[in-house]
Amino acid sequence: DTVDWNPEETGKGGYEHYMLKEIDSQPTSLRNTIKGRISPSGDDVDVDAFDPETLSEFSEVQFVACGTSYHAALYGTTLLNEAGVRARTYRASEYQMASDPVTEETLVVSVTQSGETADTLGAMRRASREGATVLTVTNVMGSSAARAADETVYIHAGPEIGVAATKTFSSQTVTLALLAQRLAAHMSGEREHRDLEPALDALTSLPDDLGRMLEGDDAERIANRFLGSDAYFFIGRGLGYPVAKESALKFKEITYEHAEGFASGELKHGPLALVTPQTPVFAVFTGEHDEKTLKNAKEAQTRGAPIVAVAKEGHPAIEATDAHLPIPDTDPMWSGLLANVQLQLVSYHAANELGRSIDKPRNLAKSVTVE
Ligand code: G6P
Repeated sequence: DTVDWNPEETGKGGYEHYMLKEIDSQPTSLRNTIKGRISPSGDDVDVDAFDPETLSEFSEVQFVACGTSYHAALYGTTLLNEAGVRARTYRASEYQMASDPVTEETLVVSVTQSGETADTLGAMRRASREGATVLTVTNVMGSSAARAADETVYIHAGPEIGVAATKTFSSQTVTLALLAQRLAAHMSGEREHRDLEPALDALTSLPDDLGRMLEGDDAERIANRFLGSDAYFFIGRGLGYPVAKESALKFKEITYEHAEGFASGELKHGPLALVTPQTPVFAVFTGEHDEKTLKNAKEAQTRGAPIVAVAKEGHPAIEATDAHLPIPDTDPMWSGLLANVQLQLVSYHAANELGRSIDKPRNLAKSVTVE
């Protein structure tokens, strides 16, 4: 007798799709990412790279990445800038031929889940050639990126099978946020440093917050309510901006519907022309700059668009908008991450309802090894 045993199915652990399994596993993957990275005193971070003494030699950080990893890099850039460090994010494919100066004082950080993305590896080669120190933030031990880099920081998210990156984005943003604090402590000179304790405290309970959020069915309800719209827009400001970009990317990747992410202040400079009652706008409220984001959301609402506030319970935006996608209350450093997970679920449920090939979307590959 033979047993019909399909390792792929077994690997799904009872889930219909890897993507949902991977979204649901985020409390665990995040715990692994955080493990050992908060100092016992609770007010400092430890990321296994670099002798801290050498960090003050760098005057600027350049991130290179593609796709979802690019959005995680934007998150890190925003936090570094806030902490007084000059930092920029480049699309790896553009960086290779960019003429922006790279010197021995430049720290180039490549962000790549797989460590095998050709564009990112090419950008790392350019950086090394021009004398920069290269650090890679990756999920895969022994990957090409890990071998090419001067220093490696692992995100410890565990294997990700679904083509659409989910749990690795969350682990990347946490790793980059911690790395940003580490770099800022040594690179921002005399500038007074942010008290990290509240953010690190909140980080300790983040996996549990996430776990509670994942028990809800709000994302599925919202996905079904807005299915059949003409297009889907996502807006955010500050740390909410990379989340808006990432949520739109996820939505288009797996639903094949038109989705775009904008800096909320940019709506009025063009995208408002696309807004109709058939274009829901998901507005990300992180707890910082929220009044302005709400003002921008209302500009779209006035033109007929239904607004979904992605915000904590009791947030003033809930009253003023049309639907609410709740996130747990946490430090503003992490609320974007929680909003992103809720929006991953909205994409998933919309794609599932549409019968899409969720784990292997048409025309896309998990790891793109050509330029
Ligand atoms: C492909 C994948 C994306 C991913 C991007 C970068 O396009 O489909 O999900 O974000 O590559 O991958 P990396 O492994 O470098 O993070």
